[in-house]
Parts: sequence; C-alpha cells; structure tokens
Amino acid sequence: MSETLIIFDTTLRDGEQSPGASMTRDEKVRIAKALERMRVNVIEAGFPIASPGDFEAVKAVAGQVKGSAVCGLARALDKDIDRAAEALKEAASPRIHTFIATSPIHMERKLRMSPDQVVEQAVRAVKRARRYTDDVEFSPEDAGRSDIDFLCRVIEAVIDAGAGTVNIPDTVGYSLPERFGAVVAKLIEKVPNSDKAVFSVHCHNDLGLAVANSLSAVVNGARQVECTINGLGERAGNASLEEIVMAVRTRQDVFAVDVALDTTQIVHCSRLVSNITGFPVQPNKAIVGANAFAHESGIHQDGVLKSRETYEIMRAEDVGWSANRMVLGKHSGRNAFRARLSELDVVFNSEEDLNAAFARFKDLADKKHEIYDEDLQALVTDTHLLSEHERFKLISMKVCSETGETPTAALTLRMDGEETSATCPGSGPVDAAFRAIESIVESGCNLQLYSVNNITSGTDAQGEVTVRLEKRGRIVNGQGADTDIVIASAQAYIHGLNKMLASTSRTHPQV
Ligand code: KIV
Ligand code: ZN
Repeated sequence: MSETLIIFDTTLRDGEQSPGASMTRDEKVRIAKALERMRVNVIEAGFPIASPGDFEAVKAVAGQVKGSAVCGLARALDKDIDRAAEALKEAASPRIHTFIATSPIHMERKLRMSPDQVVEQAVRAVKRARRYTDDVEFSPEDAGRSDIDFLCRVIEAVIDAGAGTVNIPDTVGYSLPERFGAVVAKLIEKVPNSDKAVFSVHCHNDLGLAVANSLSAVVNGARQVECTINGLGERAGNASLEEIVMAVRTRQDVFAVDVALDTTQIVHCSRLVSNITGFPVQPNKAIVGANAFAHESGIHQDGVLKSRETYEIMRAEDVGWSANRMVLGKHSGRNAFRARLSELDVVFNSEEDLNAAFARFKDLADKKHEIYDEDLQALVTDTHLLSEHERFKLISMKVCSETGETPTAALTLRMDGEETSATCPGSGPVDAAFRAIESIVESGCNLQLYSVNNITSGTDAQGEVTVRLEKRGRIVNGQGADTDIVIASAQAYIHGLNKMLASTSRTHPQV
C-alpha cells in the first residue's frame, strides 16, 4: 500500500486571484461541493480578511462541506487569523493557512522587516492559529527565491510552534524541476523536526513548470500538493490538479504515493470551473481538453482500434469523459428527474427550485430529443442562476438576421417588476440583442469576454455562453444555456447584470 498524496485544492482562493475569475458565494459553494464529491482532501475556500464577500464564502463552504477539510488563508497577523477562525467556525475539519514572505527581496522591500522579525511573526501566527484548530499550515512566501538556511530556521521554528503542514511556495514560478525537488529534499533532510510535519508545495506556472516542479517535489518527499482545477490562478496560474493527479495515478511505477480521489469527477469539475469563471479550456489541454483523448491520424486510429494501449496511457472514462449518456427524455417524470440529479449530487433547496428546474427540463426536452447529464447540469446551473439575484428577466425576444440586411433584436425585459421593450440593430444578432438590453438597462458595463461552448455534440446541442462584464473595476461573469445561442447569449448578459447589481457580487480580493 502506497502512502496518500494530500491534494489541496486552491481554486477558490488562488484560482480566484486570476483577473476576472471572481466568484460569488453561491458559485464557490457549488465548486466546493463538486470538489468534495471528487474527494479532494483539503479545499482552500478563500481569504476571509480580504473582503466581507470572501468571509461569507468561506463561512458558507465551511458550513456545507463535511467530507473535505476546509481551509482559510491568513497573513501572519492576529486580525487575519482571528477572521479566518471566525469564518471556519462551522467547519467539520478546519485548517488555518498562514504565511509570511521569507525571500530577501520580499523581506527588505515589501515587509521592511529583518529576518529575525519574520521568524518571530511566523511563530506568533502559528501559535495564535493553534488556539483555534490543531490543523495549521504555514507557508514561507516566495520560498523559491529564499535562502535555504533561512528557510530551515523558519521551518524548524514554525513546526515547534505547532504547524502540522509546511508548504513551500514557488510564488513567482521561478524554480526549475530538478533544483526545486532538491530544495525540498534538502529541507526535509536538514530541518531537525521535519518528521513532525507534512511537506507541501505550491507552484506557479510563470515558466510553464508548475506541474513539473510539483511532481519533482513529490519524488523528493513532498506529501501534499497545492493545485487548482484547470490550472487557474494568479498570473499564468497554479499547478493543474488534473495533471498532478493523473500523473501520479498513471505513473505508479515512479511515485511512492497515490491519490485518494475519485478521478471520474475531473471533467465535471473542469467544466464547472470553466463555466463559472468564463475561462475556457483550450482543446489540447491535457486531461480535460476536448481533444485530450481524440486521435486524428490514421495510424493512431488504427492502433487504438487494434489495442487501445498502443496510443492511450489513460482511459478517457477514468477522468469522466463518458460517451454522453442519455438519461432522461420528454416523457420522464419529476421523480426520475429529481433522482437523476441527486445522483449528480444536485440537491434542491426548495420545491420551488425543483419545480423551476423541472419546467426548464420539459421545455428543453421539447426542443432537444436526447437529454444528457451535461444538459441537466447546465439546466440546474441555469435555475440557480435565475433564482440567485434576479432583478432583470428576459420575457421574450425576436431576432431577425438576413443576408444583406442589418440584424435586429426586439426584446422585452422585466426590470424591477415592470416590463419594457426595445428594438436595436447590431453588427450581428448577439450584438443586436446586447444593445437592446443595454438600451433598457443602461448599466454602463463593459463587455470584456464573450465565449460560446457546446454542451454536448450535434447541431441540436445546447450552447453554453459566458460573458464577463466590468464596471468601475468590478468584474462579474454571467452564464446562460439554451439550444438557441442568441437566447443563451441574452440570458448570460442578463445574468451578468443581475450579479453586477446584487450585493453578493464583489471585487477581486487582493492578497
Ligand atoms: O503563491 C503563494 O506564495 C501563495 C501563498 C499564499 C501560499 O499563494
Ligand atoms: Zn499562490
């Protein structure tokens, strides 16, 4: 039996630090539930002191996730640690993750503190966090550019103070695999009390080496990896969870550890995060890209048909690429609908929510013959979206698009209970629809991103649209899904507007 590699997911914290990836509390809870279902060991839910919205999100995740440890980030400051502890009060397994920078450049120029002061503050922070929970993690920020002897000194001190996990962050993505692995090995060897803590790594992808650096650290003794779904994260992102997990699982001949995750949930989590943040997954992305298991060349296709292992090192179904399974149809009833969604871990808060989702399912089943799991997921996402903070609602829309003519959109919106109509031309039908909405709402938002993905294959598939709206530095993502992509686009835009004007939307937190 090999040891378990602890998978620490920070999509909701470091992932959210990607410009434009801001999430609402409810979106964070949905992602956290999907991570829990995948059996991720630790979920870093946010940075409670960063904003009231982040505090509420960590609190909500702590209240609803019981199968994974829930972690809150805190600088090595009393007020940060107290706030993190407050947010984590309801967690079944709370973890406080505290950090302070240890590289010369950060200590001198950012913190303006001496190395002695940094050690003292790190120890104080760990001790304070231990008042609230036995599960305390410490990170020497910018460890990748820190002096190794100083790192040994800080790490020994924080382990003595009660840190059970010591995380080595390559904050700026500067490290190279062989050297980074050697640093981890050296720290474990030189720190006298290293056996009292789990060594972890947290790698950024500025040189495209986050996964390679993390895996090299695992070979050299790290037993926790911090990573994010789709590699989301600050700047070029973090190490991608799906790549770490599948590398360890696939190369059991190399790694002395294995992961305890349900890997069949990977594709679902990837889609969910992509949909909520509006960050598309590139088709050739390892594991979760649409082409990750597609063979184009004749020689490869022939080989795979004769024996799959000739060109495939993993099975698509092991990461959740199922052949789209038809689960429900036009004649399925409410109970079958509820039962299938509960198998997908979707629980309705009220009968009203269930009825709204079921009504949308019936509408969809009229338009689309075969309803797959992916359709159901988009549909309940949509129901969540609609019920979340609905100030504006699309009542009807008519779009004219004809060769040689300017497209126009005529639509009626309900705004704060009152119906208003508008007709606008545009360079295309989607542009016309957005202009018509804006002529009614006059939000002043800038459209930063517009993306369309098909949920399943075929021309009758639902289109899933994400828009990113910006207003005075605040960024929100809106989503919509429909078999008609112009309607899906209008819904996504309206969803974005509803979020922009709701109190739970917030600006991007700053570390
Ligand atoms: O990149 C980093 O150093 C971090 C720390 C807070 C762990 O995200
Ligand atoms: Zn980071």
